[in-house]
Amino acid sequence: MTPAEFEPYRLNYASIDKQHLELFNHMERIVEYYSGHYDKEVMLRLGQEFESLIVAHFDHESALMREMQYDVLNPNKYNAHELEHKYTLSEIRGFSLRQIIDFDDPYPIKYISDILAHHIVNHDKVFIDWYFAQKAGL
Ligand SMILES: [Fe+2]
Ligand SMILES: [Fe+2]
Repeated sequence: MTPAEFEPYRLNYASIDKQHLELFNHMERIVEYYSGHYDKEVMLRLGQEFESLIVAHFDHESALMREMQYDVLNPNKYNAHELEHKYTLSEIRGFSLRQIIDFDDPYPIKYISDILAHHIVNHDKVFIDWYFAQKAGL
């Protein structure tokens, strides 16, 4: 993903931006791999790596949200955010299985990419904007 393509998703929180970019880039690698020679072992490894990256990323965000007491001070938004992490993870786990069975179709990863893009704009951005407002004492 080019810097210009990433711009709409940049939240100006370095570690989270870095992880989001890694996730998008990993999904691009999977889509590229679809157009090459398919190897079940490689695809399974790419899927597992993606799952590990996203679990680590969600853990990082959750820790930051709790550290900032987002769960206490903004429970509705916190709960909606965590719920979407759970939903996204279950979709990815379903996708990991599907790509082994239905390996000709890059659609699932595009679908996951869309979910992630939507999540960043609708949940991560809301939290990070709130985070900066809290830090500024607004
Ligand atoms: Fe995120
Ligand atoms: Fe998130």
